[in-house]
Amino acid sequence: MSDVLKMGMVGGGRGAFIGQVHRTAACLDGKVRMVAGCLSSTADKAIASGKDWGLADSRNYQTWEAMLEGEKKLPASERIDFVSIVTPNHVHFPVAHAFASAGFNVVCDKPLVHTGEQARQLIEATKKMGVVFAVTYNYSGYPMVKQAREMIVNGELGEIRKVVVEYNQGWLANNLEASGQKQANWRTDPKRSGAGGAIGDIGSHCEQLVSYVTGLRLQSICADLTSFVPGRQLDDDANVLLRFCKAGASNCEGTGPDSMDAEPGARGILTVSQICIGHENDLRLRVHGTKGTLGWLQEEPNYLVLRQDGQPEKVYRRGNGYLGERARGNTRLPSGHPEAFFEAFATVYSNACAAMRARSEGKGNVGGIGMGGAGGGFDYPDVVDGARGVEFIERVVEASASSEKWVRFAGK
Ligand SMILES: NC(=O)c1ccc[n+]([C@@H]2O[C@H](COP(=O)([O-])OP(=O)(O)OC[C@H]3O[C@@H](n4cnc5c(N)ncnc54)[C@H](O)[C@@H]3O)[C@@H](O)[C@H]2O)c1
Repeated sequence: MSDVLKMGMVGGGRGAFIGQVHRTAACLDGKVRMVAGCLSSTADKAIASGKDWGLADSRNYQTWEAMLEGEKKLPASERIDFVSIVTPNHVHFPVAHAFASAGFNVVCDKPLVHTGEQARQLIEATKKMGVVFAVTYNYSGYPMVKQAREMIVNGELGEIRKVVVEYNQGWLANNLEASGQKQANWRTDPKRSGAGGAIGDIGSHCEQLVSYVTGLRLQSICADLTSFVPGRQLDDDANVLLRFCKAGASNCEGTGPDSMDAEPGARGILTVSQICIGHENDLRLRVHGTKGTLGWLQEEPNYLVLRQDGQPEKVYRRGNGYLGERARGNTRLPSGHPEAFFEAFATVYSNACAAMRARSEGKGNVGGIGMGGAGGGFDYPDVVDGARGVEFIERVVEASASSEKWVRFAGK
């Protein structure tokens, strides 16, 4: 594997949203080059989009199936090192499964797939082929989110008692999908989006952010999903109560309400909405421990606020020497020059690419956070994290429809 990795992309053609962010982020450090793609669902648009990006005709494919076959036929030194999947959700599974099963590393956007069974199959293919499989939960790429994680691991917050995570957007407050707006259209269609609306689209980010920062494991869920916009088939507003396993408890597998309460762990509130008029990408996290509270806002991502009893609040700022190793090691600019969305995305890529290089050198566990590779330095969300996100969406949908107060979360 050469020092500059070769990337292929599925999705992200003309008029698409996140594909351009992925291309920019992947290439930000000069260590990745996009050499192949099938950038759109329609052949003409795929070819036109590939030309915009300067793809060679021979590697500008009309379908992702042709791309897989074409790349497999190339000598190992020429074919792509990884595929990046930036299509609507329903296309993630067939593409990710086919490429992983053929031995290609995969980067896939969230939510990973539609069902727990599909997620299980992706984990199986990933392990069988020993590929690197990253899921772009980009918020865990922010330096100050990494700082929060490190401070909690170091015990600076004490025992975690309560977590509050919110993601408020307003762009679907009206029936935007009826206008044919592309991104609204598929996100509100269960066949393409999956069982979750807002809870899948942005709730999945919240679940991963909480898991990454606190390390807490979900025990059970009480949920209320609503579709406020008439005729909309999926939720556009979600309010979820969370119970976490007791920190350090060996067994989080109780069978009923009594065993749930036997060892009370942390509690949480997760609220996401796409009908909050005036809110853009208002993702905010608060973690309350026995020694203090940490707060982080996505729209002001270079700061992390620590509140302690009887003291003025303390603001940690990105780019400073007093920060922990993870925050310092995953940043690019000096303090005061704001870093944000592109850089955090680029960090997910650079850490996944480090694992890909290690894989090509025959190193052991190159899995990311979910597969325990983060301890070895591979601090990227992986297929196990993606699968937990899928299970989270399924359980929230189940809990909202259930007359039982609490629905168990079996994920680890
Ligand atoms: N991590 C994040 O912050 C973030 C932000 C936005 C979107 N996303 C995720 O990224 C994915 C794409 O979202 P988007 O908003 O960019 O969607 P989009 O509708 O803007 O773009 C999707 C692209 O995929 C293409 N496509 C569809 N089917 C295809 C196929 N079979 N072969 C090749 N290309 C195909 C479309 O033509 C289009 O170019 C979704 O899974 C979404 O949840 C993640």
